[in-house]
Amino acid sequence: MLKIMFVCLGNICRSPMAECIMAQRVRTLGLDGKIKVGSAGTSSEEEGNPIYPPAARKLRQEGVNILPHFATKLTKEDYALYDMFVGMESSNLAAMRRIFQGDPDGKVKRLLDFTESPSDIADPWWTGDFHAAYSDICRGIDGLLAYCGEILDD
Ligand code: 4NP
Repeated sequence: MLKIMFVCLGNICRSPMAECIMAQRVRTLGLDGKIKVGSAGTSSEEEGNPIYPPAARKLRQEGVNILPHFATKLTKEDYALYDMFVGMESSNLAAMRRIFQGDPDGKVKRLLDFTESPSDIADPWWTGDFHAAYSDICRGIDGLLAYCGEILDD
């Protein structure tokens, strides 16, 4: 079982969007028993809150099933529980390394580094552009799934 945690700042926009999209792709591909996904934030600002309504609206418009969600903050103990921590932007990676006090097993990654155009995913909480965030997350997940396929085939 490959366990993947998506990580953003607040855990109410990008990482839960990525979790819902990935969970649906995993189910469609028949990989339920092989890949498990979760999400968390590096800040405690939104702890306990649901997916931000405009993010949920975008998922619904795109036919993505919305999973039950309460925002949580990433903890040091999570490091042992997942194989990969996939952040949305470079600042998420730096914050994860602070929370984990390092990354001895090289588990911390950035989502768009799985694509041919590595970059950060802008925070729609600030930009208001949930379409761009959705589209970037989908591209990243395509690349991530290809990578997971290689690992699972080994
Ligand atoms: P997210 O967006 O990191 O994609 O969940 C944010 C949501 C809330 C805040 C920041 C970013 N906030 O500062 O409350």
